[in-house]
Amino acid sequence: MKQRLFLAGATGSIGQSALDILRNMSDKFQLVGFSAHRNLLIAKKIINEFKPEFAIFTHEETYKQIKREKYSDTKLLFGIKEACKIIQNENIDIVLNSIVGGAGLIITHYAVENVKRLALANKESLVIAGDIIIKKAKENECEILPVDSEHNAVFQALSGETNEKIRKIWLTASGGPFLHTKKEDFCKITLSQALKHPNWDMGSKITIDSATMMNKGLEVIEAHHLFEVGYEKIYVVIHPESVIHSMVEFVDGNFIAQLGKTDMRGPIQYSLTYPERERSVNHDFDLFEISKYHLIRPDFERFPCLLLAYKAGRSGLLSCNILNAANEAAVYLFLNKKIHFTSIPKIVSDMLEKSDLRCPTNIDEIIAIHDEIKKKAIEHGEKEYSW
Ligand SMILES: NC(=O)c1ccc[n+]([C@@H]2O[C@H](COP(=O)([O-])OP(=O)(O)OC[C@H]3O[C@@H](n4cnc5c(N)ncnc54)[C@H](OP(=O)(O)O)[C@@H]3O)[C@@H](O)[C@H]2O)c1
Repeated sequence: MKQRLFLAGATGSIGQSALDILRNMSDKFQLVGFSAHRNLLIAKKIINEFKPEFAIFTHEETYKQIKREKYSDTKLLFGIKEACKIIQNENIDIVLNSIVGGAGLIITHYAVENVKRLALANKESLVIAGDIIIKKAKENECEILPVDSEHNAVFQALSGETNEKIRKIWLTASGGPFLHTKKEDFCKITLSQALKHPNWDMGSKITIDSATMMNKGLEVIEAHHLFEVGYEKIYVVIHPESVIHSMVEFVDGNFIAQLGKTDMRGPIQYSLTYPERERSVNHDFDLFEISKYHLIRPDFERFPCLLLAYKAGRSGLLSCNILNAANEAAVYLFLNKKIHFTSIPKIVSDMLEKSDLRCPTNIDEIIAIHDEIKKKAIEHGEKEYSW
């Protein structure tokens, strides 16, 4: 029988790679529904090709536009709550959450409460609500399969091992486009330079996060929650070739690493088929193509976002919320050419220092506080760092 799948964020980079897998494995998975935000063109293509039962639009204008059209096989709905209802009521086996940012939290939350498997690309939901999500997933026996290539690699390396046997988790990082940029040249970085990732083709927010290395910081917090290990055991190592997707060092001194192509279809497929391994569309990886592999220590001075993330992670849920919301705000300002690249860590650091909010205790409070911090961080960034 086919597995019934709901794909949140189908129009994005991960969403499109996931659809490629479904195309290749149409005998195993059925796309029951998907969500899109603003990308009408791609959403229409998905409806025409996959004929899902439901298409959810989370952006009102986009929904108003598509509503004028008729699709006999697909029901068009508006709002993230409609996506949650489908996850709750339509016998979904797997939710793949590839929405970007804190906006993905509600899908993660409904998935761990209602389905048996969540394939999770939306790292931000674990950053801002990791303790609550992991607890709920355990209570409801929902498996969280990491889609992030690093965590997927750690998951594979840990196969059959318990987490008390971990000495260290080594998350690899490409180092992004500014790995070799001098500190004094960071103030000259332009948007188009920051959007050119050397190895991965991704959505704009994660591409900027990779350039500041906040992405790796968010992944450190994600790893802490997914694998239930302390921050003192999570290390980052720069590996510019991005062939080693991450490693686990065990207490007996042995390391297990997972290697593969820089193609997100690898980890996405494994998160869907686990524990099975199926033939994939991206198996043509040539180990000899890259003759030298490098491993370099991260530079916290040039990439302060990484340090801020470790600090926020150690400090707990409220700080992680502030870190993530302020970063989303700062990246938004940078993408809109309102601030310099170097202002991103400054805005995050300012917000971490000056917040006097009380710690949220449930998902609704997290969503409210996250939205509030994001709004305040945009105002702060525009006032203090506009150029
Ligand atoms: N791309 C990668 O290679 C990669 C690797 C590892 C992890 N991840 C993680 O996967 C997630 C998605 O990344 P991506 O690169 O695929 O991002 P992306 O290309 O920007 O796609 C984001 C998706 O989220 C939707 N979306 C945007 N804002 C939304 C909102 N407010 N409410 C609901 N949906 C919204 C977008 O819809 P529209 O396009 O219709 O507007 C799109 O479908 C991120 O958490 C990222 O960190 C990505």
